[in-house]
Amino acid sequence: MNKNILNATINAILSKGKGILAADETPSNIGKKFEVLHIENTAENRRRYREMLFAAPGIETYISGVIMQDETINQFNSHGQEFSAALKEKGVLSGIKVDLGVAPFNDDSIETITKGLEGLGERLDRYKEHHATFAKWRAVIHIDPSQGKPTTEAIRANVEALAKYALICQQHDIVPIVEPEVLMDGVHSLDVSHQVTSTVLSTLFDALNQKGVYLEGILLKPNMVIAGLMCPDQPTPERVAQKTLDCFKNTVSSDVPGIVFLSGGQRDDLAIKHLALMNQTTDLPWVLSFSYGRALQRKALTTWKGQDANVPAAQEAFIEQARLNSLATLGQL
Ligand code: 13P
Repeated sequence: MNKNILNATINAILSKGKGILAADETPSNIGKKFEVLHIENTAENRRRYREMLFAAPGIETYISGVIMQDETINQFNSHGQEFSAALKEKGVLSGIKVDLGVAPFNDDSIETITKGLEGLGERLDRYKEHHATFAKWRAVIHIDPSQGKPTTEAIRANVEALAKYALICQQHDIVPIVEPEVLMDGVHSLDVSHQVTSTVLSTLFDALNQKGVYLEGILLKPNMVIAGLMCPDQPTPERVAQKTLDCFKNTVSSDVPGIVFLSGGQRDDLAIKHLALMNQTTDLPWVLSFSYGRALQRKALTTWKGQDANVPAAQEAFIEQARLNSLATLGQL
């Protein structure tokens, strides 16, 4: 493990006013989004969509890193250049999703365990040849108190896998983005979200410490503490910001240099507002930024609609979302 390499990558990702574009939807996941817009889900259309995003003029002003998945990191732009090489020329780092998705946990219908540890080291070596400097692994935690979910066992198994993944990445000089996502699906209250997220994060840090993961060399990608989407009692943005920071202050080591949030299905404007409000708090030990998928891409995708003629307008929509999120990292609304 070369700590200097890890630290340099993290410093570049956490450059002031910048965040990460998560564009690592699997072909089947992006296909669901394409279907709504009647875009055929082919490798070529997925490539065209990603080129629209990555080639957006000025992307490097607001975006320090892009997360891709296996298909995309092997694809080329229309000038015959690998996406990762073209991004590198603009000073944008390439990241790679290395988990292989989720499988049922203990034959449970809701709870899952994330797969992908087997052969991970060799895959990382291959991705390094495509300029990857950081990676992502997403663990998924479901809340359903009426069914006793999440179970301690599912939390523990998922954070153990996250810790193993993080150590393997660091041994290959790749910065691991550690993503324990507590889903916002359900009717649960803000307090339940706070309690579950706190339990998940403290169990995660126990596992990271136990495995000897270098905490200064990871980025944490958590959910914000938010009430379930179907909860009738929706908190104000101020309350979400306060509960989220309260949770992290009690669970996240101050050795961690940065927290890059997922948007998790929040409305675009709320993802911006919550991040801005949190960044108005002074004396936090971590940089707080974004690693958004939906909250950065929603408008761009619906503007693009698969049509070349819409590329400039779609790029403009994407850059505007990136700009607003960049302002949010500076505490500005
Ligand atoms: P969302 O911002 O859409 O939640 O996506 C972020 C991500 O990378 C999920 O793994």
